[in-house]
Amino acid sequence: MSKVYQKRRHILGNLLPINSTIIIPGADLKYRNADSSYNFRQDSSFYYLSGFCEADSTMLIVNTNGVITSSVFVPRKDKLKEIWDGYREGPEGAKENYFFDNAFNNDEINSELPNLIQGMDKVFYPFGKKDGFDQLVINWMKTAGTKDRHSKAIDIADGSSLIGNLRLIKDSEEIEIMKQAAEISAEAHMEAMKTVKPGMNEQSIEALYLYEFAKKGGRFAAYTSIVAGGHNACVLHYVENNQELNESDLLLVDAGCEYEMYASDITRTFPISGKFSEEQLAVYNVVLEALRTATDCVKIGNNIMDPQIASEKVITKGLVDLGILKGDVDDLHQKGAFKDFYMHKIGHWLGLDVHDAGDYMENNEHMGFKPGMITTVEPGIYISKDADVDDKWKGIGIRIEDDILVTESGNFNLTSKVPSDPKEIEALMA
Ligand code: GLY
Ligand code: MN
Ligand code: MN
Repeated sequence: MSKVYQKRRHILGNLLPINSTIIIPGADLKYRNADSSYNFRQDSSFYYLSGFCEADSTMLIVNTNGVITSSVFVPRKDKLKEIWDGYREGPEGAKENYFFDNAFNNDEINSELPNLIQGMDKVFYPFGKKDGFDQLVINWMKTAGTKDRHSKAIDIADGSSLIGNLRLIKDSEEIEIMKQAAEISAEAHMEAMKTVKPGMNEQSIEALYLYEFAKKGGRFAAYTSIVAGGHNACVLHYVENNQELNESDLLLVDAGCEYEMYASDITRTFPISGKFSEEQLAVYNVVLEALRTATDCVKIGNNIMDPQIASEKVITKGLVDLGILKGDVDDLHQKGAFKDFYMHKIGHWLGLDVHDAGDYMENNEHMGFKPGMITTVEPGIYISKDADVDDKWKGIGIRIEDDILVTESGNFNLTSKVPSDPKEIEALMA
């Protein structure tokens, strides 16, 4: 196993105050029905700090006077269980292959973990992230306290931001993986543009994406794909994906693979016939301009509100130019009139999670962009069937979404391989 995980544990350990510890829960196996489980996916923070992918594990990183040690509780070796469910590393494997200083069976956690936190000043853990875990931590702290009644009380604090803000800046290993995730997803979108035909069902297109992802090593989608023909695109989290595609409609697809645990997140909106209508193109071009203007704002010196405000202004002006909004552009922007048609934010951090860890504020200000951050940029315009607008606009829903890496000199678009320019889309579909 790569030593990068051990390195990350040391970085996190050095962010802890002296004489404190952070406890990080791994994920449990989840069941879909009866005894049939979902595919196991490790908790993203646990994975980030270990690379270890067995369910029901817990990790602890301790800073004792600047010396960092890490311990892990893992499933016990068990011949019968391994015949049914696969190989287990056990504590020995966790030490040998994952470079933990201490490792225990997870059925020993209630007796062993309190020993590891006894005498600490402070215990961090991610508050409220895992059912039942908050109570477990309290129990372990109580037990630690009763081991030496004359010792000082242990303080408790939320460790979410400590881990999240580490995850927010991607290291070179992560950037390489995310480039591959983005490329696989971009190629799937191109394949969909070439394949879609009127009369197909949305779920066939969803299946095409999953196949294209899996062929290249991204067996799972990073999130449930949105495959929305026509006015279904105006339902922002449309995931039914079961309607027939009409020749005169657009198809909005928001789909990205997970590759080596990292997410990609791409939206493209393209004409099912292969040719945009005049009205579709007019709205599309406003969204495209918002995408380009907002993307240019993703750079050092700016903060997360710069692309947000830029996209709002472009969309407000575009809607006025099309006659969909009426009034003074600045006034309408000030009043938030665009929110009837563009009601979500411009983007979010992207990484191990599609809506990745990491704060959006620092020191009471909006988070500034720093090299190694990856954010989506995803403006949209959604004109519902019930909107108070000329009939010709009704039912048009368009979003375009790219994944943008902040660099020292500007930014790098990880998803530029799949066209967003309408002429290039039509050429690819011809
Ligand atoms: N695909 C989820 C999102 O764009 O936020
Ligand atoms: Mn997104
Ligand atoms: Mn998306």
